Amino acid sequence: MGARHVAIIMDGNGRWAKQRGLDRTAGHKEGAKAVRRIVRHAREQGLEWLTLFAFSSLNWARPPYEVRELMDLLVQFLADEEPELLANGIRLTAIGERAYLPRYVREALERVERSTAHCRDMRLVLAVSYDGRRDVVQAVRRLVHMAARGELLAADVGEAHLMAALSTADMPDVDLLIRTSGERRLSGFLPIEACYAELIFTEGLWPDFQTADFDAAMAEYDHRERRFGMTSAQLEAAPAFGR
Ligand code: FPP
Repeated sequence: MGARHVAIIMDGNGRWAKQRGLDRTAGHKEGAKAVRRIVRHAREQGLEWLTLFAFSSLNWARPPYEVRELMDLLVQFLADEEPELLANGIRLTAIGERAYLPRYVREALERVERSTAHCRDMRLVLAVSYDGRRDVVQAVRRLVHMAARGELLAADVGEAHLMAALSTADMPDVDLLIRTSGERRLSGFLPIEACYAELIFTEGLWPDFQTADFDAAMAEYDHRERRFGMTSAQLEAAPAFGR
C-alpha cells in the first residue's frame, strides 16, 4: 500500500539564498514556490494527507524581519492558493500554538480553514508555531483536567487517550517523513505521530525540491518493508497485518 500521509520538513531555504549571495528571505520566497509545486503534485498523485512544517515554535527566535517575512509568505500563500485548494477539493487545516500567531496570520489561516472545511479529496496540514513536545504537554494537560473532573481514571489511560488529546487527533499516523537539505534530525516534528514512519533524508535544498524528488521518495517508500514488529515471513503470510 502506498503512503497515505506524507510529512515534510522543508529545510535549506537559508542556504539556498546564501549560495546565491541573497538574503535569507529570498530563500523562503523560493521555498514558498516549492510548497505550491509539491501541494499541486501531491494532489495530482492522489495523496490523502500532506503535513508541512512551515514554522517551528523555535523559529520565533529568528531575527524579527525574517519571522515577519515567513508570516507574510504564509498569508500570501493562503490568499493565492485558496481558489486552487477549493477547485481541487483540498481541505487546509493548521496545527500548532495558534494563539502565538499575529492576528492577521491567525485570521487568514482560519478563513481558509473555514472556506475549505467541506473539501474531501486531500488534506493539507500546515504546522505553524508547532513543536511536538509542546503539543504532548498540552495533551497531558487536557488529560489531567479530565482526570480532575472525574472523567478519566489513571488506570484506564491508554494510547487512544493520548492520541485523541494531541492537536493531530483527527489525522492518521505519518507513513513517510521527508527532510530536505542533508540534515538528519526530526526537530520536534510529529514525534508521536511519526514514530512508525519511514524516514527519507534528501540532499537537495527545499527550494530545489522537485516533483521528481517527491516521486522518488514515494517509490522508495513503496520498496521498504514495514514490519510493525513482525517477521518478513509473517507479513508475507498475512500482508494485511502490515497496515
Ligand atoms: C527552513 O529553512 C525552513 C523554514 C524555517 C520555514 C519553511 C517555510 C517555507 C518553505 C516558506 C513558507 C511556507 C509556506 C507554507 C508558504 P532554513 O531557513 O532553516 O534553512 P537553512 O537551514 O539553510 O538556514
